[in-house]
Amino acid sequence: MSKVVRVAVTGAAGRVSSSLIVRLASGEVFGPETKVILQLLELPVALKNLEGAMYELQDCGFSTLKDVVITDDANVAFKDCNYALLVGAAPRGPGEQRKDLIRKNGPIFVGQGQAIAKNAASDVRILVVGNPCNTNCLIAYKNGKDVPADRWHAMTRLDHNRAVSALAAKAGVTNDAVTCVTIWGNHSNTQYPDFTNAKIGGQPATSVITDHAWLENTFVPNTQDRGKFIIDTTKVSSSFSAANGAIDHIKTLVRGTAAGDWTSAAVVSKGEYGVPAGLVFGYPCTASGDNNWKVVEGVKLDAFGQEKFKKTLDELLQEQEVVKDLLPS
Ligand code: NAI
Repeated sequence: MSKVVRVAVTGAAGRVSSSLIVRLASGEVFGPETKVILQLLELPVALKNLEGAMYELQDCGFSTLKDVVITDDANVAFKDCNYALLVGAAPRGPGEQRKDLIRKNGPIFVGQGQAIAKNAASDVRILVVGNPCNTNCLIAYKNGKDVPADRWHAMTRLDHNRAVSALAAKAGVTNDAVTCVTIWGNHSNTQYPDFTNAKIGGQPATSVITDHAWLENTFVPNTQDRGKFIIDTTKVSSSFSAANGAIDHIKTLVRGTAAGDWTSAAVVSKGEYGVPAGLVFGYPCTASGDNNWKVVEGVKLDAFGQEKFKKTLDELLQEQEVVKDLLPS
């Protein structure tokens, strides 16, 4: 008998989710022997669009797609789900500050955290994509505390993939030659894309790309600001690359990281690298294919990296302060 996986996706009629749900249904993530039930959550105003997406999913004829549920009720969407991908959130409006967005979207993750704890399967894994994703994840986790802390993740994989691609292009190699990249901290422009521990073709990236000024003054800020660069170019934020980051995150959880490599994920800190326990922080992580992340220990940062690390940690602590009324103790 084939296995069945229930995957809840929020904001399912949005731009990121439109790419995400097709790939989840296709068998690419969970394999050809696993049937997928998609449980799609939207605001009432977007349900008609979501209905259209459901028909298109049916028309793909995927052998791995067992059912599609569309709903505006979080209790229905998260019922017995094994994975919950929290994408739905309001984007930043004209003139809005980051802290305005946090206050606008934060309450969404109070209710969704509670609904996940009440309804999800006992093995649920949650990936928060909706921004500001680290702090939204913190809110959902704190409000869904019946679900163990190690199940809650926020997405830094898009930033990771951007960093890999930029290093590969500079070195004139293909992306698969680049390993051991880390996005430390927040999915924001304070993140630290760490090139000092990265490898290219198994060699330290800094010995392959010897232009250290480029690494510090071009690679780091360009990776930090890549999301803005995409918006400036296309007038809308990243969509299929964001969906691809989420797909890669789940695929790696399911299948594991390659020997000698790691990836980037934001997880609930247990105090690793001096980060206060409970904060959702981007770390180097490995997975062994059992749906769990393990933070890589002992990665060293130079003075440049330590300064960047502190900046992104400080930002996350400030974000935590802004939403403290949404965090039950
Ligand atoms: P979008 O505006 O196209 O779609 C968002 C969808 O969420 C809309 O259909 C909206 O109706 C829905 N939504 C809003 N509140 C909801 C709620 N309470 N429950 C269920 N659905 C709700 O936005 P897009 O481009 O798909 O982006 C989605 C989120 O992903 C944004 O917050 C964006 O900033 C974030 N993002 C994160 C990235 C990352 O690397 N972590 C990368 C790119 C986007």
